[in-house]
Amino acid sequence: MVLFPLLMANNLIQTSSKKGPETVLILDFGSQYAQLIARRVREAGAFSLLMAPDTPIEKLAEHNMAGIILSGGPCSVSNEGSPRCDERLFDLGVPVLGICYGMQLGCHMLGGKIEGAHAREYGRATLHVKDSAGLLHGLPEDTAVWMSHGDQVDAIGEEFRILASTATCPMAAVAHTSVQFYGVQFHPEVTHTPHGVELLRNFLYEICGINGTWRMADFMEEQCAFIREQVGDSRVLCGLSGGVDSSVVAALLHRAIGDQLVCVFVDNGLLRKNERAFVQTTFRDHFDIDLRVVDARKDFLDDLDGVVDPQIKRTKIGHRFIHCFKTSAEEITKDSNCDVRFLAQGTLYPDVIESGHGYSGAAANIKLHHNVGGLPEELGFDLIEPLRDLFKDEVRKLGEVLGLPDGLIWRHPFPGPGLAVRCIGEITEAKLAVLRDCDEVLLEEIVAANLYRSTDQVFAVLLPVQSVGVMGDGRTYESVVAIRAVETQDFMTADWAKIPYEVLASISNRIINEVRGVNRVVYDISSKPPATIEWE
Ligand code: XMP
Repeated sequence: MVLFPLLMANNLIQTSSKKGPETVLILDFGSQYAQLIARRVREAGAFSLLMAPDTPIEKLAEHNMAGIILSGGPCSVSNEGSPRCDERLFDLGVPVLGICYGMQLGCHMLGGKIEGAHAREYGRATLHVKDSAGLLHGLPEDTAVWMSHGDQVDAIGEEFRILASTATCPMAAVAHTSVQFYGVQFHPEVTHTPHGVELLRNFLYEICGINGTWRMADFMEEQCAFIREQVGDSRVLCGLSGGVDSSVVAALLHRAIGDQLVCVFVDNGLLRKNERAFVQTTFRDHFDIDLRVVDARKDFLDDLDGVVDPQIKRTKIGHRFIHCFKTSAEEITKDSNCDVRFLAQGTLYPDVIESGHGYSGAAANIKLHHNVGGLPEELGFDLIEPLRDLFKDEVRKLGEVLGLPDGLIWRHPFPGPGLAVRCIGEITEAKLAVLRDCDEVLLEEIVAANLYRSTDQVFAVLLPVQSVGVMGDGRTYESVVAIRAVETQDFMTADWAKIPYEVLASISNRIINEVRGVNRVVYDISSKPPATIEWE
């Protein structure tokens, strides 16, 4: 999560160089599994990056390339306009593995013929291994694989060997005899192909010869060196939200450039209870970071006065954040007599991919993330985004390597607009206070029931509804609070968490008894889609 509700990169910093880590480049032809391939490679011990399918080989060669993977994709190689890679790809002398569309394209480029398959294959198939050396080393003779294709390779020249087939796909795995090209029609990256990881490891270790030593600690040192080189003796401003991503960025920058880093935490009045104290203790006391706290509670709440529409709330909050950062940067420049040229942000790899900034891949379902808007040029910062090549769990690992406390590393995400989008309708200080108390009780109960790590986001929502209740002998007419708890991998889809009834009961009892102004608690049982995780 990046700090700002509306900002992100329009000024990207290149983070790799030829001397960088041993890297496997994945040319993404629009596969729904492209990120999964990237993960599998990293899990195997080599760094990986997704690239546009048509990236010229000169650009590919800037990386310390150990191998190339051509992903699957929704198109047909025989269709005009279907994505292609640089024709000179095989001149690089680097091993290439084509998966599904990537196999078809590689075979086509090397003289093979692609046809619409006689029987389309979607789902499980049995692969019969004919040649178990190299790519398929160690796989059983018959093994399940996951297929998802219409076209398939129909004829290959004499220079190819057939390594395996299925009942309907005679060329399910092939290898070229003189060029280092391998192709598989099935998807080794998905768990439905039980021996897929072995196949990928064979490609990486046996064929590409990777040494498999890529570790998060290396990444940390490489990034530190890179940041030092980028920044020189300038100062860097880091917006700290208290969330995992911006905290990891701050800790990383602090390691890299020490007191050239200034962190700014904006108290916008829309935070959880004790959040400001938590951030101060963690970063000022524990890390000894130069942390400036901007108390902008009044400004934010004034801006939001009378605003009901969620989009207007977000826009106003976004503008106010920008204003706060601009003012802070000016103050820091004045104080230290040193230019603040850089702004650090916790942009993650999925944000980059989903926003289409990272590469011009052909993925059909690119989602525009809330945070991706574009940094207003008048801010005049260069961006530093050291996490832009990492997935969320890798960011957590980096946080561990940097020595951040567990309680911070495993925090659930909290949206940039904060409680403003959880206090439905008009926002007042009184409503925010009620919501904060409910939220505190809720999280205490979730932690006590040991459910914090098995859920991915849990929060309370204050509804603009009064309902009738009875307390003691009296009638009440008070607010309704909704509890939202979700389980999700990527926050793009989510299911409501099946919290045990006893836990729901104690959450409800405690909120109604302890929080003044609430007499009813309801549980949100909507999945995403069609609902979203937040209510606004
Ligand atoms: P939705 O509500 O779209 O949220 O299902 C998905 C995830 O994004 C978080 N979220 C935001 N994060 N700024 C943020 O930094 C925002 O404006 C914003 N809106 C939603 C949400 O909490 C969930 O984790």
